[in-house]
Amino acid sequence: MEQYREWAEPVMEKIREKMEWVSKKNQDKIPYRTDENGDYDDRSDLSREWNTDDGLNWWTNGFWGGIMWLLYQDTKKEHYAQIARNLEEKLTRCFEDFYGLHHDVGFMFQPTAVMNWRLTKNKNSRKTALHAANLLAGRFNPSGRFIRAWNDTSDNTKGWAIIDCLMNLSLLYWASEETKDPRFRQIAMLHADTVQKNFVRPDGSVCHIVEFDPESGAMVRSLGGQGYGEGSSWTRGQGWAIYGFTVSYLHTQKKEYLTTAKKVADYCLSQIPESGIIPVDFRQPKEPAWEDCCGACVIASGLLTFAECLTENEREDYQAAAVKILSAIAEKRADFSTDCDAIVQNCSSAYHVPEHHITMSYADYYFMEAIYKLQGIGKFVW
Ligand code: GLY
Repeated sequence: MEQYREWAEPVMEKIREKMEWVSKKNQDKIPYRTDENGDYDDRSDLSREWNTDDGLNWWTNGFWGGIMWLLYQDTKKEHYAQIARNLEEKLTRCFEDFYGLHHDVGFMFQPTAVMNWRLTKNKNSRKTALHAANLLAGRFNPSGRFIRAWNDTSDNTKGWAIIDCLMNLSLLYWASEETKDPRFRQIAMLHADTVQKNFVRPDGSVCHIVEFDPESGAMVRSLGGQGYGEGSSWTRGQGWAIYGFTVSYLHTQKKEYLTTAKKVADYCLSQIPESGIIPVDFRQPKEPAWEDCCGACVIASGLLTFAECLTENEREDYQAAAVKILSAIAEKRADFSTDCDAIVQNCSSAYHVPEHHITMSYADYYFMEAIYKLQGIGKFVW
């Protein structure tokens, strides 16, 4: 690990330097992506016509706060904590609206309210996080034993569950650990068991969406979701699975979760291209060669935590793969200049979207989180 720590140090220095001015420039915003001038947007800008789901309720809105808490733990600079606190305060207004909140409350409140509570013992943050955990638990479908994804759209999504939701389970595990009430953990484990059974294919690849009959709970079909198509292998989903099953293992010590994380990780390792640059889907056609450097960062950070659960001898391949991915980003896809507010470039929210190779704030979050892990700095978030 020492050689990786050394490798990460100069990257960390560039991150520190860049985030000093990026954070000040965007201190009142909740950024998601940059525009053609390299400036971050602001999901909390209420003068703009966001709809219920992509304004203040947008699922990635917690990551900017998460970045600030990472930087705060590293530098102890108060302005990072202040930006995180302001953002969290804005996010709590989503509870009033309610309709825009869904399974992603974990992504929203784990890196913000839970981290604030852990780091500063702010009682309001604890309350906020417990409120969010209760909303998440309330989405549990007892017949199908899954947490329902998203809200009503033009599709009938009442029976949908998605691979990403594994990462939201952290909030439920935290709530049980915090209150000593096992219900949250029980729901999380029932959901993780369902995902293990229905999402993970024999070769270790995973599907993005599974539809269940919301009344009987029977599995109906799987869908391609944000990947290339049915039966494909959306790379960010692979990352959510490696990381998510590892998180479930860490909170429960249930061995099967680690075994499943390994199965997905082994498959992932067999697919990583020589270049270390990750496509949107491991099963997409060669052209167009759409990349998703955000998925790459999720996979890398997930692999690092997964590797920590293994013995010294078993770790090496997974750590090496994570660093290979991170090196490819740092050397070929990171912008440390003042031209763009974001660091990680060439992200794709999904395969079938009109615009690819954009920036996304959570790519920066997972990139930084992984680099901090290599440096051994900061509390584990999930
Ligand atoms: N959680 C949604 C995504 O990864 O795009």
